[in-house]
Amino acid sequence: MEQQLKALQTEALQKIEAADNLKDLNDIRVAYLGKKGPVTEILKGMGKLSAEERPKMGALGNEVRGAIASSIEAKQTVLEQAEIQKQLENETIDVTLPGRSVKTGCQHPLTRVVEEIEDLFISMGYTVAEGPEVEKDYYNFEALNLPKGHPARDMQDSFYITEDILMRTHTSPVQARTMEKHKGQGPVKIICPGKVYRRDNDDATHSHQFTQIEGLVIDENISMGDLKGTLEVFAKKMFGEDREIRLRPSFFPFTEPSVEVDVSCMFCGGEGCNICKGTGWIEILGAGMVHPNVLEMAGFDSKKYTGFAFGMGPERIAMLKYGIDDIRHFYTNDVRFLKQFSVHQ
Ligand code: DAH
Repeated sequence: MEQQLKALQTEALQKIEAADNLKDLNDIRVAYLGKKGPVTEILKGMGKLSAEERPKMGALGNEVRGAIASSIEAKQTVLEQAEIQKQLENETIDVTLPGRSVKTGCQHPLTRVVEEIEDLFISMGYTVAEGPEVEKDYYNFEALNLPKGHPARDMQDSFYITEDILMRTHTSPVQARTMEKHKGQGPVKIICPGKVYRRDNDDATHSHQFTQIEGLVIDENISMGDLKGTLEVFAKKMFGEDREIRLRPSFFPFTEPSVEVDVSCMFCGGEGCNICKGTGWIEILGAGMVHPNVLEMAGFDSKKYTGFAFGMGPERIAMLKYGIDDIRHFYTNDVRFLKQFSVHQ
């Protein structure tokens, strides 16, 4: 029995020595020191021993258990240390490695221009209004003094969805909708940015979908002078303090009188160049005094209230501001084009 116990000890210590991870070591602990382990198994044979030998064997059994336990404990400390060491090595950071640069996106040039225009008008007390892109014929045309069959509808070839519903051809319907909401009560002071749609073939200056910003001011005693002053501030902010504007008579069914607004050429300073076709002026928007019919249809008393409106294309503004020569650049989204407008170059 003594030999059995000693052999068992030797075997256990060898296995402990060989264990190279905590899990194996724990398996050894369970196998050798568990309640039904081999030491207990061997000591069951004590019944056959003499009375003097029994306590000796009992003591030897405890000794063997103790030796195995302390060997396991010592090995456990060693393995735990090794594990910590390994972890530390894995987590080492090499501070000499070159860093990875973070790639940032950039704002689309159109968004940038629209936000700039919004900020300018907000600073002058306007609020931003929005309306649906799928619009009723009524708001897109009729409420703007363009009844069915009016020849000026041909100026805006439209995508119809049904006979009464179309993709809006301009942002002017937001005027009509906003006025209606005010129920005949001024003042109204809004700008309306948004997408518009026309049946056009895309080329360098046309796109079947583009953006517009509409402006509308209604109050008592609003005059053409207010319109001119407002647009002058706009032109100078967008194109430089040296810019001037001029108004040319024009026609829009929803304004009377109507004007087209030019800004002095920002490329040649008004001297005349190939961009302004030698005239020194570049057209940037349409505008006018809100037609009395439009006021009345939206529930405003045209004897009490007057107003002005204007409509512009942010693409055109951005093209002039940044010298972009093809409207399609805004929509093909070539990253090489867009990156030029990054603020993190
Ligand atoms: N809606 C016009 C267009 O798309 C632009 C416009 C011109 C809007 C004059 C206006 C305006 O409000 O007064 O061509």
